[in-house]
Amino acid sequence: MSGKGGVGKTTVSVNLASELARRGYSVGILDTDLTGPNIPKALGLLNAPIYATDEGIIPAEGPLKMKVMSMGLLIREGDPVIWRGPLKAKAIQEFVNNVQWGELDWLIVDLPPGTGDEPLSVMQLIPLDGVVLVTTPQEVAIMDVRRAIHMVRKMNYRVLGIVENMSYFTCPGGEKVRIFGGEGGKRLAEEENVPFLGEIPIHPKVSELTDKGLPIVISDPDNPVSLAFKDIVDKIEDMLR
Ligand SMILES: Nc1ncnc2c1ncn2[C@@H]1O[C@H](COP(=O)(O)OP(=O)(O)OP(=O)(O)O)[C@@H](O)[C@H]1O
Ligand SMILES: [Mg+2]
Repeated sequence: MSGKGGVGKTTVSVNLASELARRGYSVGILDTDLTGPNIPKALGLLNAPIYATDEGIIPAEGPLKMKVMSMGLLIREGDPVIWRGPLKAKAIQEFVNNVQWGELDWLIVDLPPGTGDEPLSVMQLIPLDGVVLVTTPQEVAIMDVRRAIHMVRKMNYRVLGIVENMSYFTCPGGEKVRIFGGEGGKRLAEEENVPFLGEIPIHPKVSELTDKGLPIVISDPDNPVSLAFKDIVDKIEDMLR
């Protein structure tokens, strides 16, 4: 979750899920961004067929046998979804209750930005073990993520921690440049007294591989971005063990 758009929620969801799947867990990914469902593209599932049985919808199968459900699998590319709150809540309820997830070790839920209908529905419908907040270092992102933390607390859920994405860029010469400023994520974690899960650098391969539907932790496991994700998954695994 994040209060802010475009900070990397989908990237973080896909790569946390992929790293967990790499570790041998059975993993599901639920995309609750109903109006901007990006998960199918990020997992190379844009044209994946979806089947329904009497028992419900069968999720699509992504890399490493991850089970994937997203509005993007149900509509044609380019079709807009223009829905108000109650309909969104209903769709999320369908995704939770009428999709044949089977036995999962982990269900990773990707959210749209903000503290609106979708996160509210998710927190009301799914007994979550916790929420990972994603931010970038800038003050505007931090402000919105603070709001999201307070929402999670109001709903009595555990904040597993903050992931700071796009923290810095390493130049070809080796110099680390903090393009979006200082260590906002770490500071926010201290101020809100929640764990800081780690920094993810900016790397051109992230968007390049996402556009190809290949999560970076699978397709380039030694990339500094992938190593950062592994470190974050270590922490989350420890917390929920
Ligand atoms: N660490 C990174 N390095 C380089 N590019 C990144 C990184 N993280 C994310 N991106 C790119 O930034 C863009 C936004 O990321 P993403 O879609 O994950 O954000 P989001 O928070 O899910 O956005 P939205 O709020 O629209 O759902 C994508 O093109 C993604 O590939
Ligand atoms: Mg997204």
